Amino acid sequence: MVKYVALCVFALTFVSFGYGNVVPSRADNQLAFPSCGGYIFVDDEIVIDGPFNQDCILQFETQEDRILAFSVIDGDMKDVLHLLNIHDGFGIDFPILKVENQITHEVSQKNAPIVLYTTSSEAIVTFTKRAANSNMKLKIQKAVDCPLGIGDNTQCGRVVDDVSCYCAIFTTRNFYDQTMICLDSKMKLVVFENRTEEEGVQATWPGTVGPAYYTSMTDSRRDGTWVWESTMTVLSAGDYTNWFPGRPSYVANNAEDCMLYGGSYLQFWGDVPCANGYRAICEAQP
Ligand SMILES: *[C@@H]1O[C@H](CO)[C@@H](O)[C@H](O)[C@H]1NC(C)=O
Repeated sequence: MVKYVALCVFALTFVSFGYGNVVPSRADNQLAFPSCGGYIFVDDEIVIDGPFNQDCILQFETQEDRILAFSVIDGDMKDVLHLLNIHDGFGIDFPILKVENQITHEVSQKNAPIVLYTTSSEAIVTFTKRAANSNMKLKIQKAVDCPLGIGDNTQCGRVVDDVSCYCAIFTTRNFYDQTMICLDSKMKLVVFENRTEEEGVQATWPGTVGPAYYTSMTDSRRDGTWVWESTMTVLSAGDYTNWFPGRPSYVANNAEDCMLYGGSYLQFWGDVPCANGYRAICEAQP
């Protein structure tokens, strides 16, 4: 959902920074951009239209344990970096984000437009003189941090979109231990909400090449009721599924209580005893 700069604007914030040139927010919820600076809390995603006044300083903040992702609509961040500076923190003395100081995941989407990520929940954007003639649309999203890995024999990347993070655990463990490995890194075993998400994950860590990967779905609490445990969502009629033919087992009190993809089930979902050791996929969503 795109909110066109309709979020909180606390113009007075800048007085304490001493930059001046502050225009108060308007009652009609329209931000005073680009004529001036302001503070914006990024709930989810916002887009700000240029041109930008070089005297304006925009201050962005999102949820404390999240980071900010900056991109350009219909363009590439690296083509507009001469128009603006994104400071990695709440002041112009914080370092400027550069393409070359971003983490490069081996498995993130290739050839995707550049996105610049902060290291904390705060950023300041300043503009150069040339931004006054640019019609770039700056997109700012709430995102999760995405490390290169979450321990030995793991691999992470932004394999579905720009704001979430997925990690594969290549060491095999039972379902419960894999759940904890994800939680240790503030992640959860994956939930496949739709085909797009699963295809993004399997394009990176395919089920067809041998090893199988646990997801968060289990019917261990009540046989026959499959639950995405990471979101405590019951799998209902009409929800996205990708079961292997004849799966899951409908035998009463069967022992195959945890869902995975891969192995003998190929790119499909199969059910196995939760005590068996398999690889796993963790995810973090903004
Ligand atoms: C599919 O799931 C992803 C990941 O959770 C979500 O971001 C996306 O909006 C979903 N797409 C559709 C078409 O529902």
